[in-house]
Amino acid sequence: MQQKEIGIIGYGSMGKMLAQGFLRHGLAVESLVVSNRHVEKMADLVASYPGVTATADNCGAAACAHVFLCVEPMQMAGVLGEIKDTLTETTHLVTIGGAGDMEAYSQVFDGAVSRVIPTLLAEIDRGYALISHNEKVSEENRDWLEKSLVPMGKIVVLPEEQLKTFMQFTSCGPAFIAALFEYWLAAGEQVLPKEAKEVLFATLLETVGGTVAFMEKTQMSFGEMIARVATKGGITERGVQILEAGLAPVFSELTIACNDRNDMAAGKVAAAIQEVR
Ligand SMILES: NC(=O)c1ccc[n+]([C@@H]2O[C@H](COP(=O)([O-])OP(=O)(O)OC[C@H]3O[C@@H](n4cnc5c(N)ncnc54)[C@H](OP(=O)(O)O)[C@@H]3O)[C@@H](O)[C@H]2O)c1
Repeated sequence: MQQKEIGIIGYGSMGKMLAQGFLRHGLAVESLVVSNRHVEKMADLVASYPGVTATADNCGAAACAHVFLCVEPMQMAGVLGEIKDTLTETTHLVTIGGAGDMEAYSQVFDGAVSRVIPTLLAEIDRGYALISHNEKVSEENRDWLEKSLVPMGKIVVLPEEQLKTFMQFTSCGPAFIAALFEYWLAAGEQVLPKEAKEVLFATLLETVGGTVAFMEKTQMSFGEMIARVATKGGITERGVQILEAGLAPVFSELTIACNDRNDMAAGKVAAAIQEVR
């Protein structure tokens, strides 16, 4: 039997986004094997794409040429233990775990490993996927991975040690942006009548989208945007002063705390993988 192209292990939020993304962008159904612990979770996939192999057998997905591990970081070790004898010297293993260094994976699989940090935004073909490869990934597999992800948004290849900081801006980013704007919206709602709530939300979303589009079109920096809107001694300038004072320490703490959490989780993932060696 001919080896299938892509295996995806774990059909959760990200596994689903990748499986559906590859298929939406022209991957043949016969080229994909998706496995998930609860097989019934993939009913939507099978209904939309009859012919896709959807199975509870992780080794079926692990027998493909490019194998994407899309389970939670602390579930990676268990899956690796299950599939390690199925992986071959030509397998290209791709882990999307937010935490866990490639070196840890090499304890169990001494071959080509790439890391991809996807973003939910890829569901609408937006956002950046972050990519890193170990030294065993061939030129051909690098090209394959990068070309396969490009239809689902932008990509950037980075040294592995930079992933944890970049991912705060790409994969955590939508949640951070939502949290930030939620507080801004709530403050506006407090001083407006209840019936203005919906319109306020619409005005905020349009302002956010418009600001991004404006900056992209004019190649403006954040500083230039502030200078363009905030007149000396005016209302905007006052608001920007308050934001600067409050947010500088908040974002500094956020960056450090998220990196620390990532290091801690990476240590636990490595220890768990060591166990299955
Ligand atoms: N969410 C994001 O925006 C995001 C962004 C970047 C990276 N990531 C990374 O992506 C990975 C997956 O995240 P997620 O948000 O997609 O998680 P998720 O929604 O919890 O999905 C995990 C999936 O893995 C399945 N699974 C667990 N153990 C399994 C096993 N032994 N065999 C087969 N399937 C198994 C689960 O199936 P059951 O439900 O049947 O148990 C579930 O469908 C994580 O490592 C995370 O760090 C996530």
